[in-house]
Amino acid sequence: MMPTARGRFITLEGAEGVGKSTHLPFISEWLRARGIEVVQTREPGGTPLAEGIRGLFLSCGGMPAESELLLLFAARASHLREVIEPALVRGAWVICDRFTDATYAYQGGGRGIDSAWIADLERRIQGHINPDRVLLLDAPVAIGRGRVAARRGAAVDRIEEEDDGFFERVRDVYLARARQPGYRLIDASGSVEAVQRLLVEALGDLIDPCRP
Ligand SMILES: Nc1ncnc2c1ncn2[C@@H]1O[C@H](COP(=O)(O)OP(=O)(O)O)[C@@H](O)[C@H]1O
Ligand SMILES: [Mg+2]
Repeated sequence: MMPTARGRFITLEGAEGVGKSTHLPFISEWLRARGIEVVQTREPGGTPLAEGIRGLFLSCGGMPAESELLLLFAARASHLREVIEPALVRGAWVICDRFTDATYAYQGGGRGIDSAWIADLERRIQGHINPDRVLLLDAPVAIGRGRVAARRGAAVDRIEEEDDGFFERVRDVYLARARQPGYRLIDASGSVEAVQRLLVEALGDLIDPCRP
């Protein structure tokens, strides 16, 4: 049953290096300064089980695409039941670094899994819990990759090792999904400050529903 008092669920999406981890604390602080209780979290992760799955997911090479998909939803089920849903029910806002849009982009676009299968898992695992706002940080693949290279040097995870074609497919799916209501496409190629101005604009109507 849909709870009556409910916080908002905001997700931050986009490929590697677009700035999700950089901007997550900024958004949390911006909301807290407006008196909102914020739960900041990430996927895969957010619970001990889901963080364990994250470790496997990022490190085990040669994993079938279907294993990726099921591991992500195994982690998501735990995250939803233990963290996201209880927070929303008590009226807190949840700000999450990646969610199901990433599964459509990476396992659907990147790996070629049928999106109907992802949609079926989404319905079964999430039920009525979907993001109120998806902030898609978008930049050309080369910009994101350049930032990741500058951030981590030679140490890259299993996904960051994929080729440009993989990340172009990921970006295409993200851009297509961002045409739906509730999504905001943010140009992430500018400076940190420029991106933060766009993020604040993209959240204004959630704080003050009278704003367009
Ligand atoms: N707008 C920006 N301009 C320049 N560098 C940025 C910008 N946003 C993030 N970075 C840097 O790029 C790297 C990747 O950012 P990060 O937030 O980790 O990306 P993501 O979490 O989306 O993979 C970090 O070193 C970060 O400091
Ligand atoms: Mg990150």
